This record gives sequence, structure tokens and C-alpha cells, in this order.
Amino acid sequence: MPDLVTLTRQGEIAVVTIDNPPVNALSPGVPEALQAAIESAAGDGPVRAIVVIGAGRTFIAGADIREFIKIVAGQRPRIALLPFLLAIEDCHKPVVMAIHGAALGGGLETAMAGHYRVIAPSAQVGQPEVNLGIIPGAGGTQRLPRLAGITKALEMCSLGEPVRAPEALALGIADRIIEGDLLAGAVAFAREIAGAPAPKTRERNEKLRDFGAGVFEAARERARHSRRGQTAPLAAIDAVEAATRLPFEEGCRREAELFNQCLFSTQSKALIHVFFAERAASRIPDVPKETPVAEIRRAAVIGAGTMGGGIAMTYANAGIPVLLKEVSQEALDRGLDVVRRNYANSVKKGKLSQAAMEQRMALITPQLTYDGFAETDLIVEAVFEGMAVKKQVFSEIDRIARPGCILASNTSYLNIDAIASATGRAEMVVGHHFFSPANVMRLLEIVRGRATSPTVLATSMALARRLNKIAVLAGNAPGFIGNRMLGPYRREAEFLLEEGAPVEQVNQALHDFGMPMGPLAMLDLAGLDVGWRVRQEFRHLEKPGVRRPLVADRLCEMGRFGQKTGRGWSRYDENRRPSPDPEVAALIEEAARQAGIARRAISDEEVIDRSILALVNEGARLLEEGIALRAGDIDIVYINGYGFPAWRGGPMCYADTVGLRTVLDRIQEFEERHGPELWSPAPLLKRLAESGETFGSYDARSGK
Ligand code: CAA
Repeated sequence: MPDLVTLTRQGEIAVVTIDNPPVNALSPGVPEALQAAIESAAGDGPVRAIVVIGAGRTFIAGADIREFIKIVAGQRPRIALLPFLLAIEDCHKPVVMAIHGAALGGGLETAMAGHYRVIAPSAQVGQPEVNLGIIPGAGGTQRLPRLAGITKALEMCSLGEPVRAPEALALGIADRIIEGDLLAGAVAFAREIAGAPAPKTRERNEKLRDFGAGVFEAARERARHSRRGQTAPLAAIDAVEAATRLPFEEGCRREAELFNQCLFSTQSKALIHVFFAERAASRIPDVPKETPVAEIRRAAVIGAGTMGGGIAMTYANAGIPVLLKEVSQEALDRGLDVVRRNYANSVKKGKLSQAAMEQRMALITPQLTYDGFAETDLIVEAVFEGMAVKKQVFSEIDRIARPGCILASNTSYLNIDAIASATGRAEMVVGHHFFSPANVMRLLEIVRGRATSPTVLATSMALARRLNKIAVLAGNAPGFIGNRMLGPYRREAEFLLEEGAPVEQVNQALHDFGMPMGPLAMLDLAGLDVGWRVRQEFRHLEKPGVRRPLVADRLCEMGRFGQKTGRGWSRYDENRRPSPDPEVAALIEEAARQAGIARRAISDEEVIDRSILALVNEGARLLEEGIALRAGDIDIVYINGYGFPAWRGGPMCYADTVGLRTVLDRIQEFEERHGPELWSPAPLLKRLAESGETFGSYDARSGK
């Protein structure tokens, strides 16, 4: 095994290189080897200063996150990083940390234990632990305020956002930005400071006294708002506050206590699951890494509606020129106007410069014809959701597109194989299901047709990364992963209304569970007509005699399409603020009376269980059918496409944390009450629950 840490010399400067690919995580052995290398350099007479640098693409990405799973499972004791860092800080020769890529979590904590930090212009530093449901555990909450001040440390530790090199320099986290060769610059810097006193971060207390009144309460308020429901951000704030009250050593002890509470929490387990599930989602077992990937230099989008415009923006944001086609000048103008307004809003909010906006607009070519389509590498269809029109479009682009051009449909429900049958090249056809607004939402469902080629799939996955999307592969079933699961979720929300829960209760209970909004508010936002159209398309699949929601179609027939018409499940004012609508309440009551549904008081707990377990049960079926490759893929879809709280890990991970036996019992209760057509437990769920297993450990390929 190659050395995790190596020690070399450049004259009077020792160079310690950490080499633990891919991201130099502080896996077991790395902190030990780092400390040993520094001690050895310190004991080497002629050495006057020491540079620590990372091999490969980055400095240190933090603790090894996989180790946390083992520690929590009791398979390994936790070896605290802090003593290693204290030893580095106590080195009597100056230690210069040279940062490129990222210094995150334990990586930044290590960097702060050095006496100086130099940084490459493109590098970033941060304490992103809250994204894993934990807090810095090796003095980060105590050292960062000493370098960057209380306000910034609070922000970085509680929100987890990294800062880039120029800001790190301005804050005092870094001492110099090195343009060009980092190692050469770091060695030159080390020569400059060799012989000067080595400042210890833990002894720099001057910034600890400099903070405004109410700063902690304000930070808590912000964390409660932007990280609703999460415990780690509040723990991080407590730890930073401790730095202002306690000496360094005691502050570190307080940090360790809080770290341990967080590490052994369900939230941390869930968020660590999400970290790995997100990365696993891009792997397709029968599409190996070596599969050729086509280059996407130019793209085209058909349809400049909400979805088409958003997709075109996504391409332009990634620097890919894109043709945007519509059938009428009016629709094209309207679509482009929305795109321009969206960009202008970003400029107004300071998120985008005017020049960048112009550049992006210039990458989008609006047109009414197929001119230039023959030169594109990928065409995305985003027209009206109906099979006939989709087939028409695909037969047209099949005639125009060059061989090798990928033909993608943004359908959210329809059969990709049926769409592909309108072309003579089914192997080039794939689903690219974006979520609205496409330029904002990070999820992209890649839908695999029967004939979709491995290259098209590998290219789609690589393209998703370039577009800054999180891609998940879905099989070709109506609604794929996300929308298929949404069906039962929506259904239960509407049944609950019929059985007596007010619209506001259903929305509030799921909001309190952690969803960004309740299901009926979500439907109102998306537009009730969208689901109406889909229901019409799939009416032939409805089983006679099976209960189905009574009111949604009625609302649409009345022209109540949700927020855009000011009325849907709720009533909306000109600022789109909702209020209860007695007309809807009366409609629901009357529909329930006519259908003979007994009305009763319903608890919030029942609202949550029926909604969320409906997702879980359908997810289990998708998994067993192979429509989703892994339980984690379903979680990623629900977190990134529907706002399921990441700190609950996604619906399947949530079910695992509740316990599949408990989940099964509850579903069987619902089955007894509401009938097997709606609530028979998915066979996979039953099997796993009865054998004491979890979705997380289920391997869809082997079916075990
Ligand atoms: N531990 C273990 N594995 C890690 C890791 C870590 N800290 N960071 C990344 N990896 C792995 C990924 O799982 C991935 O593995 P696979 O190739 O097998 O999927 C591989 O490294 C590459 O990662 P990415 O695909 O994410 O690569 P990227 O270039 O897009 O991003 C990164 C690189 C910015 C470092 C990103 O990986 C990242 O943000 N990592 C996590 C950083 C983090 O949260 N650090 C804090 C850890 S907790 C801590 O340090 C607590 C403490 O106080 C001691």
C-alpha cells in the first residue's frame, strides 16, 4: 500500500504530502502519519519550516465519513482527531498548510492547527458538517471564530456553506493566495516566515470579544428558518458560543459533547445516508465506467413553455449553446420573456452579473423552425404532455437529427418505448425528466427505455453533472419513480379531506413533518390541470370499484387550477397567499355525503402516516419491480424533486429508521380499514419486515 503521508525536503523546507485518494480524507492512519511526519521534520535540524500539502485534486475533504457509520454501529471506537491537531499546533517549527481544492470539515480543522495557511485561488474552505447532521468535532467551532470572528464562524458552522479563497483571505482564515504552482508558492512563503514566531490559532483570542448583541439568537433564528427541523445547526451555534465563554480546552470539551450527541442521532444517520446515496445514484450496474460518453457541444429544446424555457436556461447556465423552438411567434416570445425575467430576477438579487445574464441569453437561440437541429448533439422535447403530440415531434426530429444525436423526452409520465417507436433509432431515445422549475430543481430522472443504449445512459449521467443536476436512473413505468409515488401520496391527502381533515390540517401536518409545503399546497402550486390531464390519459388503467378521489376533477371542471387562477384547494390573494376556501370545504363535505363516507376528527399523526407510508409502500413496489435500482435512489428523487426533508433521509430511509416491522403493522391497519386494493403491503416490504431487514440493505440486483 502506498504511504498515506510522505516527507521530502526542499532545502531547509520540509514538505509533508498527504496522499489518500480520492479526497485525502482523514481515514485511520492518516492523522497518525501526518503527526509523525511533522514530528520527524521538526526533529530534523536543518529544517526551518514545514509545508503540508495534499496530493491529487484536493487538500483534505475532512474526516472519513464511512468511519462514522462504523463508529455508530459500534464496530469501531472513535479516535478523536483533536489530540493530533494539538500536537501539530505545538510543533516548534512553523507549519504552513497549502490548500488547493477544498479544506472541509476536519480538513479545515487540520489547516487551522497549522501556523499559517496559503491557498490556491480556486480553493474553498468550510465546515460543512451540518450537512451530515453533525458539527465540527476537532476544534473547528473553537478555532474558526478565533480566525474569522464570531459572526462568520457562526454562519459557516451552522449553515455549512464554504467560502472561496478571496473571502478566506479577507476573513483571516488564509494568509496568502498563491497564484500558479501552489507547492512552489508555499515553499517560498515558508522560507519567508521561517525563524519568525509560529502563531497558535488557539491562543489568538482577540476576535472572540468582538461580536454584536443578539448575534447568537439571530443565528439560531436563521438556522431554525433555513434548516427547519434540524438539530445540528443549533448545536453548532451552541459550540461557537462556548468559544466566547470558555477557555479553548473547555470549549473543545463542550464541542465534543455536542458532536457526540449529533453523531449518534437519527438525523445524522439519515444525512450520511443521503451523502452516499447521492453519489451511488450515478452508478448504473450494467453500464460500466469505461462506457464511451458522447460530447454534448450543442443542444436543442422543443417547446418554450415553463419546462422548455427552464431546460434551455439549464443548458445556457452550463455554457452549452441551445436552440429553443416553438410553433408560434407568440408562444416563443412569451417563453423567452419568462427566461429573461428569471435571469433579470437573479441579477436583481445579486446572484448573477448583468454581463453573465447577457452571455447566457446569447447562448439561447429562439426559433420557429428546425434550422440548425442537424448540428446538435442532443435534442430535448418539452411539449404538451400527450402521447400523440410527442410521437409527432419524435418522428419529425428523427428525420432531421444526425446519427448519434441523443433524443430525449421530458415526459413526466408517458411510456418512453412508445415515444421511441415513432423513430427509427430507439437506442438513442431516453427520458430526461426535469422538475419544475427546471433551472432550479436539482433532480433529473433519466428514464431508460427497452432499447436505450449504454452510451446514451452514460452520456446522460455525465451531462447531468455538467448541468449541476443530481441524476437518478428510472425504469420505464408510468410516472417513473417520482410521479408514480406521488399518485398514492396525493390520493391519501384527498381521501383524508373526504374523511374529515380540513385542507389546512393536511397541509400543516406535512409541513411540520418537514415537507416544504403540504400536498394540497404543492398541487395548487404545480397547477391542478397538470394532474387532471394525466388522469385523463390514464383513465383506462383505473380499476372499477376501487375508491378514487372525488373532488380534484370537480375543481378543474370549475376552472380552479390552483395558484395561477387564484383558486384551487385554497384561495389565493394577489400575492399568492393562501386562505381557506369555504366553497371547497362545502364541496368536499357534499361529495363525501353523497358517497356515504363517514366524517370524523383525524389526528395529525394519521395524516402523516397515511401520506408518508403511501409513499413508502409504493417505493417498495418500485424497488421490487426494478424501476428504481436502489432504495437510496428513491430517497434522492424525493429529497431533490419533492423537498422531502433530507434529515429524515428520504421516504425509504425514514421507513428504515421507524422500523419496517412498525411500518408494516401500520400499513396492515390501513389495509383492514381501507381495503387491499389501496393498502395491501408491498411484498418486498413484508419480506424485509418479517426477516428484520431494511430497505438500505436490500440489493435490487440480486433481489436479496
Ligand atoms: N469521507 C469519505 N469519502 C469521501 C469524503 C469524506 N469526507 N468526501 C468525499 N468522499 C468520497 C465520495 O464518497 C466519492 O466516493 P465514490 O467515488 O466512491 O462515490 C469520492 O470521495 C469523490 O467525491 P465526490 O464525488 O463528492 O467528488 P467531488 O469532486 O464532486 O467533491 C468534495 C469533492 C467537495 C470534497 C465532496 O466530496 C465533499 O463535499 N465531501 C464531503 C466533505 C465533508 O462533508 N467533510 C466533512 C466531513 S465530517 C468531519 O470532517 C468532522 C470532523 O470535524 C472531524
